[in-house]
Amino acid sequence: MPTLTEKKPTRPTSRHHGRPLPELIFGDLWEFDPAPETADPKLKARYDLFIGGRFIAPQSGKYFDSINPANEQKLAEIAHAGAADVDAAYQAARKAFDTVWGRMPGKERAKYIYRIARLLQDRAREFAVAETMDGGKPIKESRDFDVPMAAAHFFYHAGWADKLDYVAPGRRVAPLGVVGQVIPWNFPLLMLAWKLAPALAMGNCIVIKPAETTSITALKLAEIFQDAGLPPGVVNIVTGFGDTGAAVMSHPIAAKVAFTGSTEVGKIIMRSLAGTDKKMTMELGGKAANIVFDDAPINQAVEGVVNGIFFNQGHVCCAGSRLLVHEPIAKEFLAKLKNRVRVLRLGDPLDKNTDIGAINSKEQLGKITELVNSGVKEGAEMFQPACKLPLRGYYFRPTIFSGVSMSHRIAREEIFGPVLSVLTFRTVDEAIEKANNTAYGLSAGVWTDKGSRILKMSTELKAGVVWANTYNKFDPASPFGGYKESGFGREGGRQGLLDYCQLV
Ligand code: NAI
Ligand code: MG
Repeated sequence: MPTLTEKKPTRPTSRHHGRPLPELIFGDLWEFDPAPETADPKLKARYDLFIGGRFIAPQSGKYFDSINPANEQKLAEIAHAGAADVDAAYQAARKAFDTVWGRMPGKERAKYIYRIARLLQDRAREFAVAETMDGGKPIKESRDFDVPMAAAHFFYHAGWADKLDYVAPGRRVAPLGVVGQVIPWNFPLLMLAWKLAPALAMGNCIVIKPAETTSITALKLAEIFQDAGLPPGVVNIVTGFGDTGAAVMSHPIAAKVAFTGSTEVGKIIMRSLAGTDKKMTMELGGKAANIVFDDAPINQAVEGVVNGIFFNQGHVCCAGSRLLVHEPIAKEFLAKLKNRVRVLRLGDPLDKNTDIGAINSKEQLGKITELVNSGVKEGAEMFQPACKLPLRGYYFRPTIFSGVSMSHRIAREEIFGPVLSVLTFRTVDEAIEKANNTAYGLSAGVWTDKGSRILKMSTELKAGVVWANTYNKFDPASPFGGYKESGFGREGGRQGLLDYCQLV
């Protein structure tokens, strides 16, 4: 139970999901005593590149700082890989593929992948703390979501490694060879697992680059690869900025490249690889609609909408950043939503009570601020709770815009922050039309009591994932990926494995 400090008497805030919140303006929050997570993240002062099974210094000798966005303190130095380092990583990967991994029976590969999953579970708390410190997300998310899901992806794909004859019924599958992968900063360890696990299960070797603001858990996972006895060169981790990423994507040894990040950079990569024989998968931006009908379970829907956009500070490509709410319930829904947002706790990401942590970087904070200012300028009505922001670090209040029209930038552009745009609709067709009226198509949410309506919506919504009466639910068995400018290819499930093999 939370401890109460002496404060003026206030109404207790319901933390119970789904219990109706009275439509009142609350006073101050109950004050909880701080409950910081104290596990040791076991950070090194300096992280080198992981190439050929060993940590080696970058040939340029250059390093950059990874900082904690919650307090702007330096956490560690990270190697900046140049083209020569990326080339060394690809050479190591090719050697490992030709001599060991590509020839190893699937049931033997499975043992390594299971071992990686178990070792990650053993060190789960340490990884969660490191992830929170490097990226700014609340500890309860890295502890309860990122790290367990990352382990689940390794477990799931380990289970496939000896069953690859069933991936494409009637056909035989073979690995592609060496694959190059670049990932973003919003789920650093989880995106790493999404990329590595299917590629490894299928027998490929890998060169991967984490995002420059969040490289630490990738390099900690490299320690696990060593402990698991993974043959040298099977996974190589090169750290750095966009130049390093471009070198990973364009290397001639890469049979396939996989990218998760902004649509803008995805397009640059696609243009640069046009005409080559590289296979490609892209997981890019999103501008998902959470659609709430008047027959929806309202309190659950409020909780789902809050989870959809404020989870991980809105640093989620499939974030429900647009709320489409049925006109008859719009006023009531917005009032409940604001009450819920008033009691979200923003602050130290390492505190177990924190709901909203730090924005990942100063750049991202600037981008969110610019887009939110445009929303105010273009005439939308802004709501932000009066929560206090920590004095140091990068923070942004949860923000709700109502009176938004489809032409506003905040309704069209990916904000990648804790900012929700609320629009209304009258008919099912209008909801579909508005939800699909975007360049993106990664995900959507539908809240209604009617199964038939869920089926209609999920058929007509042009989105890779449609959640019904829930949001942001993930499972390694369930394929994830986009329509339109949200990219192509799938991650997870049998479909995800097909993107890492050739049919022979
Ligand atoms: P970004 O697309 O620049 O970064 C993603 C990854 O790509 C990083 O590892 C980066 O080092 C690498 N990269 C950058 N330029 C590259 C290039 N030319 N070739 C190969 N790799 C390259 O995204 P950024 O700048 O960090 O964020 C900007 C916006 O992108 C965000 O505000 C958000 O809207 C969106 N974004 C979307 C993500 C998603 O999961 N869909 C993830 C991250 C950002
Ligand atoms: Mg960092």
